[in-house]
Amino acid sequence: MCGIVGYTGKQEAAPIMLEGLKRLEYRGYDSAGIVINRDGELSLCKAKGYVDALSEKIGGGSLMKGHTGVGHTRWATHGKPSDENAHPHVSSTGKIALVHNGIIENYQKLREMLIAKGFDFKSETDTEVAVNLIQFYYKGDILKAVSEAARRMEGSYALGIVCEDYPDLLLATRKESPLILGIGKDGNFLASDVAAILTHTRDVCYLADDEIAMITPTDIKIFNCELDEIIREPARIDWDISAAEKGGYEHFMFKEIMEQPEAVRKTLSPRLQNGRVVLDDIILEPDYVNSLKKIYIIGCGSAYHVGIVAKYNIEKLARIPVEAVLASEFRYSSPLADKNTLVICISQSGTTADTIAAMREAKRLGARVLSIVNVVGSVIAAESDDVLYTWAGPEIAVATTKAYSTQLAVTYLIALFLADLRGTITCEDYTAIVGGLSALPAKLEEILQNKENVQYLASIFFNKDNIFFIGRNIDYALTLEASLKLKEISYIHSDAYAAGELKHGTISLIEEGTLVIAMASYFRLIDKTVSNIVEVKSRGAEILTLTTVSGKAHVAHASDEIVLIPDIHEILLPSLAVVPMQLFAYYVALARGCSIDKPRNLAKSVTVE
Ligand code: G6P
Repeated sequence: MCGIVGYTGKQEAAPIMLEGLKRLEYRGYDSAGIVINRDGELSLCKAKGYVDALSEKIGGGSLMKGHTGVGHTRWATHGKPSDENAHPHVSSTGKIALVHNGIIENYQKLREMLIAKGFDFKSETDTEVAVNLIQFYYKGDILKAVSEAARRMEGSYALGIVCEDYPDLLLATRKESPLILGIGKDGNFLASDVAAILTHTRDVCYLADDEIAMITPTDIKIFNCELDEIIREPARIDWDISAAEKGGYEHFMFKEIMEQPEAVRKTLSPRLQNGRVVLDDIILEPDYVNSLKKIYIIGCGSAYHVGIVAKYNIEKLARIPVEAVLASEFRYSSPLADKNTLVICISQSGTTADTIAAMREAKRLGARVLSIVNVVGSVIAAESDDVLYTWAGPEIAVATTKAYSTQLAVTYLIALFLADLRGTITCEDYTAIVGGLSALPAKLEEILQNKENVQYLASIFFNKDNIFFIGRNIDYALTLEASLKLKEISYIHSDAYAAGELKHGTISLIEEGTLVIAMASYFRLIDKTVSNIVEVKSRGAEILTLTTVSGKAHVAHASDEIVLIPDIHEILLPSLAVVPMQLFAYYVALARGCSIDKPRNLAKSVTVE
């Protein structure tokens, strides 16, 4: 949520920051701005809207000269999207400027204190409090001032700071919001996300909570909150920049949908060896696994939906009670977690504020935390007891696709791993599922080759105002994701229901021409689902049914249109079924002319509660 990029070095800073901000735009895109420190003089430009609006104002960067600066692309929290509320914000004296991700929770109190001391405020943001607080503590030593201000701020923040008195210095500090420092050849970088600086460097240091970095063109120094210097070895990022570019596709979302076979292959294949699931990267001892009384799966948005599929599958295979809980609810729901509880946290970014908070609560209660994360070195990965990375590469489109698919793939591995250790799965089932996992990437490719069928269906239905999804068991879990995908990017109202639950209320919403998308891949319950399809069809609904090749004959008489997926072991069906639904959402949004990669009001990484 929000993006930060900073540079200090031999090159002109503005074009570098504009390029970085474009790459970060998926994190927030209601306004953008940059500040340049040119030989001790700060110049600032901000614009409401996309980074392109900012770029236009400053001639693609050519109108702002200077070699040191920071920029920001915003997702509004405090204060509406506007030029005034856009970052950077400047202190009352004009000496210090900064950009900020996160929320300073005690900003009201600090603001009152600063106003009483004579500080002026021009915006409605909490960020302006941070910059004035640093100014308040600044008595000639900027490092000390940042450290003292940081002690007073509660909440979450990642700050990129410049000060007139230090012409080639960038400062950075963070708490619960990510920041990385990039080591370049002729200058150094600061960013909230590697995508912003990958074209310039792959050598990065991760800044930890409460640390402060001083970045000059030739050096990066990191200090703890006592201002003792810390030596940190750089890490090498192996993501290729092409992974963060559109590569000829019209939208990142479409590119990422198409990348799913490869992402799933990369995630699964190192962990499938000689017909066995090998999870070398985690330490779950057999005694511990056998002592487990409960598993919680925690996540937000699509990651939570992965958890719901995983609940069905882990319970079925490993015979342990599993509860999927929204991260934002977990810590306020008196969770019954202790040392006999495994908490699985799922997060693409590894920085989602609610998931971080839930993870910390789980650890406080004594539970072991296993996380499924895409971004290496992120907060959730760093703080979990065990991590299983999804190897999806950078995901840029706000609506997740390949991260969802790779997370799902990892949950099958966990289900098999636990079931094997607990002795709750037969050899035949184990072998069949491992075989299914090996075949998964090829079957995903097969579905993608038939994408035009889904495009055709989208062309028939894109004008609907309301769409209902129904399904049973894992198909129900999938309807939640299918419906979310559609809502996120096409803005069509849609909802997901357990098929058997419709007649307990929602069926009243069905009228002539209402589109009902029935997920009917789970063969064991296909005839039950068909009964529910018939219930809505006889009340005027149009029916689009998703089923397997084997299921087709069962649903044909009750459906107006059918989407087919290949047959596969039943627990793996959601991995196939989700893809036509992602494509459907994409093509519907395309037909409606929506902003697919950057849907209104959303952000990719939600680092506020
Ligand atoms: C946002 C995104 C969703 C994502 C959720 C969780 O709401 O728009 O696509 O599923 O955050 O993000 P995470 O990074 O924790 O997986």
